[in-house]
Amino acid sequence: MQFVSKSGAIATISSPCLILPVYSKGKQAELTEAFDQAHHKQIARVLKQGDASGKAGNTLLLQMPADSKVKRVLLVGLGEHGKTTTEDFNNAVSASFNVLKNLPIKSVCCALLSADVTAKDGSWKVRQLVLKAREALYQYTETLTTSAPETSQLETCQLFTCNDMNAAAIDKAATTASSIANGIDSAKKLSNLPGNICTPSYLADTAKALGKLHKSLKVTVLDEAQMEKLGMGSLLSVSRGSRQPAKLISMEHKGGPAKQKPIVLVGKGLTFDAGGISIKSSSGMDEMKYDMCGGASVFGVMQMCAELNLPINVVGVVPSSENLPDGDANKPGDIVTSMAGLTIEILNTDAEGRLILCDALTYSAKFKPELVIDIATLTGACVVALGNHATGLLGNDDELANELLEAGKESGDKAWQLPLWDEYKPQLKSNFADLANIGGPAGGTITAACFLSRFTEDYKWAHLDIAGTAWKSGAEKGATGRPVHMLSQFILDRC
Ligand code: BES
Ligand code: MN
Ligand code: ZN
Repeated sequence: MQFVSKSGAIATISSPCLILPVYSKGKQAELTEAFDQAHHKQIARVLKQGDASGKAGNTLLLQMPADSKVKRVLLVGLGEHGKTTTEDFNNAVSASFNVLKNLPIKSVCCALLSADVTAKDGSWKVRQLVLKAREALYQYTETLTTSAPETSQLETCQLFTCNDMNAAAIDKAATTASSIANGIDSAKKLSNLPGNICTPSYLADTAKALGKLHKSLKVTVLDEAQMEKLGMGSLLSVSRGSRQPAKLISMEHKGGPAKQKPIVLVGKGLTFDAGGISIKSSSGMDEMKYDMCGGASVFGVMQMCAELNLPINVVGVVPSSENLPDGDANKPGDIVTSMAGLTIEILNTDAEGRLILCDALTYSAKFKPELVIDIATLTGACVVALGNHATGLLGNDDELANELLEAGKESGDKAWQLPLWDEYKPQLKSNFADLANIGGPAGGTITAACFLSRFTEDYKWAHLDIAGTAWKSGAEKGATGRPVHMLSQFILDRC
């Protein structure tokens, strides 16, 4: 769906559907009243009858008289006038598009930018509006045939110009937001694909296709022999139990000056995690197809950077493998040598994410990074600690961590920092290798990050544990596309 600004007087709009804000408790939007004045004051009557509460996210679809240039009006609640919160605004947009997606209409005019959202400016509203609308319209279709739901017919969403924003500013913010939404959709699509389709080779081919599509992107894929030469014994050990060859994918977006050091994003691309010989219990194991969500988010962010041709250098690195039990798979007690030279005792083969990430993090130094951020569905412990709302954040540089926390707040794709103190490090002590790959049940998210920190000493680094935020379980099972929005915000703030 295209989002374009629409200027003019509200009373003269012509559209199959107009979204108008209504508020709880009395004072209404001037815009809604101006429209109503010109349309027989039907809305005032509806409000008086109490049919539209104005509660955030409450919707009411009205049919307009035959002679009206606006065929339908969708009243949507934004809470109390002047007190609309970010959540109220987002709920209102989501609710609106959940109604609209089922209507037989190709275009809609949305007047929700008129809302004052506490502490947020116009471009925030445009960004959030586009992203929440696109989220409501997202539909997984890739492997559905007869049960595929009807997809929305919406092609255009006009954003009615209001308050502080002119048409050009709205269009610019909408273009940026649409590319973030495209990145999120791509991440969701890759994440939702099953493990028998989305293999390491599939991800590698996807990267190459993305590289063909965008001039700014240079894509390189290393195969197992090339990784062997680089000494990636840790990464390759995870793949030994799999018939699918491991891949190390790099995508370089060169949008900034040649001398500018790049931001490097490293995403875990474990296309299926059965746990290996330390096999997981079978209930819910299907969800371990989502163990490549970190990698998928890197694809999404790279696509966003390329589409917008951002004037900055960003590199995406995705180590990709399966983790399966097999006669040749890693066994508990096995010791492998990482690219950095550190030996690792694999006490649990299910702690494989850190084993592929450590070599990818060492490899990343070759890009001479300004900073490195890794993104991984790394620990079940993170879900226990933070639930499904906040991504876990750890790292070796507080300035970088704070910047990511801010990007999280601004985007609504939030993170929460956990400590990476030296006190935790002894938990990774091994009698037979330089370090063990697990640190016991206490502080599992932290000890996983401690493990990674041994491989990131030469640069500023942050680690995002997205085990709780990358997908939803239950009836709404599906990828969320997180943290593409947070990372996009982080990168845009640096452009
Ligand atoms: N991919 C999992 C982490 C995970 C678990 C993500 C549940 C989302 C939901 C990771 O590879 C893993 O298995 N981690 C182990 C580590 C443990 C053996 C130290 C875990 O969290 O149980
Ligand atoms: Mn695992
Ligand atoms: Zn895993």
